[in-house]
Amino acid sequence: MKRTKTEANVVGPESPLSKCLIIALTSLKGGVGKTTLTMHLAAAIAEELENVVVLDADEEVSAVRWQQHAAADQIRLPFEVVAAQRNSLMRQARELARTGHTVIIDTPPNNREVLKSAATVADVVLVPVLPTGLDVDRLATTLELLTDLEAALETFNYAIVLNRFDARKGMAHEANQALNAHPRLETVIKSLSAYEKVFGQTPSELGQFRAMWAEIKVAFGEEA
Ligand SMILES: Nc1ncnc2c1ncn2[C@@H]1O[C@H](COP(=O)(O)OP(=O)(O)OP(=O)(O)O)[C@@H](O)[C@H]1O
Ligand SMILES: [Mg+2]
Repeated sequence: MKRTKTEANVVGPESPLSKCLIIALTSLKGGVGKTTLTMHLAAAIAEELENVVVLDADEEVSAVRWQQHAAADQIRLPFEVVAAQRNSLMRQARELARTGHTVIIDTPPNNREVLKSAATVADVVLVPVLPTGLDVDRLATTLELLTDLEAALETFNYAIVLNRFDARKGMAHEANQALNAHPRLETVIKSLSAYEKVFGQTPSELGQFRAMWAEIKVAFGEEA
């Protein structure tokens, strides 16, 4: 993960881990796994921390609908899901973090404004990308926006996460290599049918998401 500006800002007693983190899943591209990763990461963090909240900033409210489907089946997710209010995403996220919540923001595709707000308020910005040439190529626009924000912010941490990795596919390895040019998480998320079937249920395939959370914590100065 890329940490920018003074390291002292992110390590030690003032480490963001001494307060609650805000993590945003962003990409201008649709269908890359933002919502899937949001819900699984939230479930993995909720194994360790109380008060985990998914803040759904997508007008399609997929995360909220996931939670509603679960509630209709008497399933209680191990974290809350809250719809973001229009024009106050940053305030809402900050207020949740200030009141002791770890916040995971799910964002819509093709929405620069929401992407910028989410990335600005977040301590960690994760960008899922699929292992195809097209997707890696399309990543450039999202990264351009993020590096522009980076120029204006005192601290900014973003990382690409390879999603739907299938080790049997040569293309996946090529894409994996191409991503090494960017700040990225070591953890890759495999392509699993379990992720396709879990809508409306408690995410349970959490191994890689525990690893993702561990990586985030290490980037913020916590011992591995
Ligand atoms: N690692 C994975 N393995 C298998 N299926 C996956 C994986 N990640 C995502 N999917 C599937 O891919 C589809 C798109 O995922 P998802 O809805 O999470 O993407 P998104 O980026 O939130 O999309 P949108 O931009 O429309 O909000 C879904 O059907 C989801 O179940
Ligand atoms: Mg989504």
